[in-house]
Amino acid sequence: MIMDNHKLIMTQDKIATVEDVILSSCEIPSMPNVTQQILMMMSDPDTNAEKLQKVILTDQALSTRILKIANSPFYGVPRTIRTLSTAIMILGYKMIRNIVLAIVTKSINRRAGLIETMMWEHSIGVSNASFLIAKEIQFPESEEAFLAGLLHDIGKQILNNYDPERYMYVIERTYNEDISYYYAEKEIFGFSHPEVGALVIRKWKLSEELESAIRYHHEGFKATFKEYPYYLGKLSIIVNLADLMCIKLGIGRREPLDTINIANSESAALLKLSENKVQILSDKLQNYFEAEKEKFWY
Ligand SMILES: [Fe+2]
Ligand SMILES: [Fe+2]
Repeated sequence: MIMDNHKLIMTQDKIATVEDVILSSCEIPSMPNVTQQILMMMSDPDTNAEKLQKVILTDQALSTRILKIANSPFYGVPRTIRTLSTAIMILGYKMIRNIVLAIVTKSINRRAGLIETMMWEHSIGVSNASFLIAKEIQFPESEEAFLAGLLHDIGKQILNNYDPERYMYVIERTYNEDISYYYAEKEIFGFSHPEVGALVIRKWKLSEELESAIRYHHEGFKATFKEYPYYLGKLSIIVNLADLMCIKLGIGRREPLDTINIANSESAALLKLSENKVQILSDKLQNYFEAEKEKFWY
């Protein structure tokens, strides 16, 4: 079997795309019904906070989580928010959608071990870092950046669900041989988590921009930026940089990776972020994450 980035050329002259191979190997989960309903309501111009509140209230865990997050200092709301409809108005539909999808993201893990906890922590870390970077560079859709960060490694969860033993081998190789997940997965599975993640985004009918951000967050973000410098391209770079920040801080890893020089990274340069700015953002992320993660996200 010969493999390149786009196609697997199989013996017997059969050609299968990487997508075909992924789809025939792993189960890409469907989006839960309540989530689908909430997302559909949000795209309906007749929806208002009250109507949305009714649907959300049918899920007690979701309602509690939304209220907790709305009261997080991350959003800087000066007074305590006690009702769901106020939380919806303050956070906005897009942030509510993100919280709903965060809960879904956590729930697709089939196990609840250390690996899964670290993956979850990394997702939340990268979503928060993406949000902070987006605000810093005045990217117009900071909530989209949050969502891209949240879902960027969802492909790892799918691969880990599909074959946890082989995925543990991927993880061990990244730590022991200092290679990226992307390359270890390609070698061990034949495909990588960004490719799997992009399929999840498509199946869940989220946006093309998001699909592209997930697909290119490790490889190809530079080319995407050149082609789409204003929106689509920036989303994958924001996620790439957010990922580096979390790796350096050890968010979702066994330990911090101090050797990364983020200020010299391609993504920091493309976003025109100075060493000083990157440091300020990292400090902000670390302070917020350490103080608030368990209170709001667990
Ligand atoms: Fe990744
Ligand atoms: Fe990541």
